[in-house]
Amino acid sequence: MDVVSDLAMLANPFAEKSKYRRHLEEELEDNSDLAFVAVKTGRVVGYVMGDVHGSRGTLEDIAVERDMQHRGIGILLLKAELEALTKRNPKIIVAEVHYKCSSAIPFYYKHGFRISGVCRNFFGMKHDAIMLELLMQ
Ligand SMILES: CC(C)(COP(=O)(O)OP(=O)(O)OC[C@H]1O[C@@H](n2cnc3c(N)ncnc32)[C@H](O)[C@@H]1OP(=O)(O)O)[C@@H](O)C(=O)NCCC(=O)NCCS
Repeated sequence: MDVVSDLAMLANPFAEKSKYRRHLEEELEDNSDLAFVAVKTGRVVGYVMGDVHGSRGTLEDIAVERDMQHRGIGILLLKAELEALTKRNPKIIVAEVHYKCSSAIPFYYKHGFRISGVCRNFFGMKHDAIMLELLMQ
């Protein structure tokens, strides 16, 4: 959790680490089947977490250590997450991306997500989100 809460700051630039860590712990308790880490030579270098409410799945967070990005780790995490979410049978999977993380949008597009809108102040004052969605068959 120490490493994951550090990595979480890459995906959640608005967040305060200790508070966000508690959020991650709660999510993990509720949705342990939807949480994965990527391990390279015994070290955690990435993580992904998800959640499902009714027919709506959420890709909560995905992050890979800066020096390990662009090596295919993100794709492995995303595939694991989508496979796990699919078992819960959602009709739609959404990702809410902080505007400072907009460089991750091509990564989501590569896997079928499309922008569905923007939500001002989604993460708090002036922390807008770009909403993405993936429609399931
Ligand atoms: C988004 C993220 C998880 C992708 O992980 P990754 O391990 O770098 O992804 P992959 O190597 O599997 O990327 C596969 C492809 O996705 C696309 N892609 C990934 N990151 C990209 C970026 N920042 N800009 C443009 N395209 C990107 C590329 O097509 C890439 O292929 P390439 O490396 O051959 O160009 C990683 O960049 C990250 O941790 N970003 C910071 C946190 C964040 O913004 N998370 C998303 C919001 S929740």
